[in-house]
Amino acid sequence: MKIFIDTADLDEIKELASWGIVDGVTTNPTLVAKSGRPFKEIINEIFKIVDGPISLEAVSEKADDMIKEAKSLVSKVSEKYRKNVTIKIPMTPEGLKAVKKLKKEGIKTNVTLVFSANQALFAAKAGASFVSPFIGRLDDIGQEGMQIIEEIMEIFVNYDIETEVIVASIRHPIHVIEAARLGADIATVPPTIIRKMARHSLTDVGIEKFLNDWKKVKK
Ligand code: E4P
Repeated sequence: MKIFIDTADLDEIKELASWGIVDGVTTNPTLVAKSGRPFKEIINEIFKIVDGPISLEAVSEKADDMIKEAKSLVSKVSEKYRKNVTIKIPMTPEGLKAVKKLKKEGIKTNVTLVFSANQALFAAKAGASFVSPFIGRLDDIGQEGMQIIEEIMEIFVNYDIETEVIVASIRHPIHVIEAARLGADIATVPPTIIRKMARHSLTDVGIEKFLNDWKKVKK
């Protein structure tokens, strides 16, 4: 399973990428705003740190505007990193039109704000490289988010659909385990949760004991 980091915080991306567990990055307007840094600066840096798909979100509403925006985002990234540019397109009829055209032009897309298996199916049919079902936001409104991952995986396997499933809006480490057990291709995970995934209290206790016992050994 691939792990993407769901943040625009460059320090976090640098640190967690150094662990050797980050395969890509997803950003969105909220995450970019939260980083407090200019978008141009973020774009230039992220691609240098992670060699994998990096999602940048288009914020237009009409298909033609999304396409223009996608091309302008691609042009902002230096040529050697362009293979990794992925444009996040919202799951709307206009978004689907944009995905179809961008695919023809060889620009990768990640259809975002997906909340049902039908939306995922349409995104895949339109030619999305990735589809991002937001499970945490479904949990937030009292719907079992992971249920749609199960449905999407079943449908994508039934029809050999190549679009990769990015489980998004992850709220805790168990979400990642469940997504992996269902065979989802990718989980995009916030830095705080990546840190929780790496830790276990018994590991800490074990290290402390080994360090203490080692002090007792004659060297
Ligand atoms: C994914 O690409 C999104 O950036 C993200 O997972 C949204 O998560 P949220 O529901 O916590 O905002």
